[in-house]
Parts: sequence; structure tokens; C-alpha cells
Amino acid sequence: MRIISFTNQKGGVGKTTSTINTGAGLSKLGYNVLLIDMDPQANLTYSLKKHSTKLRKSVYEVLKGECSASSVIVDHADFDILPASIELSGADMELVNEPARENLLKDALEEIKEQYDFILIDCPPNLGLLTLNAFTASNELIIVLQSEYLALHGLSKLIGLIKIVQKRLNPDLKVEGIVCTIYDKRKNLNREVVGHIRDYFGSKVYNTIIRDNIALAEAPSYHKTIFEYDEDSHGAEDYLLLAKEVRNGVAK
Ligand SMILES: Nc1ncnc2c1ncn2[C@@H]1O[C@H](COP(=O)(O)OP(=O)(O)OP(=O)(O)O)[C@@H](O)[C@H]1O
Ligand SMILES: [Mg+2]
Repeated sequence: MRIISFTNQKGGVGKTTSTINTGAGLSKLGYNVLLIDMDPQANLTYSLKKHSTKLRKSVYEVLKGECSASSVIVDHADFDILPASIELSGADMELVNEPARENLLKDALEEIKEQYDFILIDCPPNLGLLTLNAFTASNELIIVLQSEYLALHGLSKLIGLIKIVQKRLNPDLKVEGIVCTIYDKRKNLNREVVGHIRDYFGSKVYNTIIRDNIALAEAPSYHKTIFEYDEDSHGAEDYLLLAKEVRNGVAK
């Protein structure tokens, strides 16, 4: 069983798209997959479920200890989702006085984690308590970088937090891989940026680069994964390859 957080405190780099479609790819490969939405924006949840779908409870109530994770989980075709809700936006403030407040997600997953081969967590674009809970519950991190100018800017803060978590909360946490997203091969700049990312992170960077692909941006409005929306798209091809690399572990 592997628990993997998709992270970057920078917004709009492809974390949610990557969590959903890597998870859907792993599910296509025959694994039991759970996706957890730890972002108060609830983009993952509403990319797969209609707004009108009654989601009575979310990960928010689970973190507060008001209900179990298993009672909140909903399914989407072949995989499961632990949904988020807007109430999560208050969690940073509300949970600040809870004892062991970094461990809330980890503890909540104890009862269900053995049912899954992969649990993928979509992190919010900040380094607050929700991200800290995700990192404490995970054994692995995948850092998502957009193949754009300033991709590496601000990463030292993220790396700093990872080091603190490894030291104080979760010594087993490791950066499993780096994925470059929204790549346009016609743009010299994108090529250069991926070169810089490879210089910086070496073999941790997945060989699969996620291309800029309109189908990936369209699929959420139909509440579909890329495989359900357009199986023949570049997006489907790339995320299936990435899922295989994640399964195998990055070339070391
Ligand atoms: N490879 C891609 N090609 C084209 N569009 C993409 C691709 N990946 C993501 N997008 C689009 O870019 C936008 C940002 O992607 P996404 O929501 O996955 O990023 P995020 O890092 O989760 O953002 P946030 O930090 O706000 O949670 C979305 O509109 C998404 O549909
Ligand atoms: Mg997101």
C-alpha cells in the first residue's frame, strides 16, 4: 500500500489533474485506488462529481473526528474518492488547538488504508495544516511542476517543509518523483525549463512529460477522467505512461 501526495504550493500547475488521472491510470492497470481531496477549493471532488450530487460529509468532518473515513467515501467507476468541501477552508484555524493536529488524516486512514494499493492525495496550493496532514499521512511525494518560467521559484520553501516533516513527524517520507506538466513542445521556453528541472532533480524526474492537451482541461466539466472523456488523447496516453512509471518507481 502506497500513500502519495501530489504537491506544490504554487497554484494551477496541474496537481489536481495529475492526481485524478494518475489515479485513474493506476485503476486501469488493475489497482485499488482511493483519491483524497485535501483542497478547500474541492476541485478534485467536483471534477468527478456533479455539484448537485449530495455529498453529505467530507474529509472536513473526518479530520474533526465527527465521522469515519469509510462513511464519507464515494465511488467513481473503478476508484474511490474521499471528497472535500468548502468548510475545509476553516480547518487551518479550527484545528489549530487539536492535540497532534498534524496526525489527523494519518489516524483517520488507519481503518481503511489496507483496502487500497494506492491512495493519492491532492494537496492545496499552500503549505498550511492541510498540506502538513497530507505529508504526515504519506510515504511518498510527487512534486508537480508546470513547464513554465519560474517553475522552480519558491521550491526551497516546499523542500524546507519536507525536511521538517521528515525530521519531526514522518521520517519515512520521501520525494518519489517530479512530474513536469502542461508542456508545449513548440515553446523553446518549455523545453529549456524542463532541462533546468532535470539538471536540478536528476533521475527523480519522470521520463513522461504531461503535454499541454485541451482534453485534460475539458474532461472535468463532464465529471470524467481523461480515459472516460477521450481515451485516444495525448492526455490519456501521457497519464497512462505516468501511472506505469509511478507503479514501477522512478528510474534511480
Ligand atoms: N496538461 C494540461 N494541458 C492543458 N490544460 C491543463 C493540463 N493540466 C492542467 N490543465 C488545466 O490547467 C488548470 C490548472 O490545473 P489543475 O487544477 O490541475 O492545477 P492545480 O495545481 O491543482 O491548481 P490549484 O493549485 O488551484 O489546486 C486547469 O484548468 C486544468 O484543467
Ligand atoms: Mg488543485
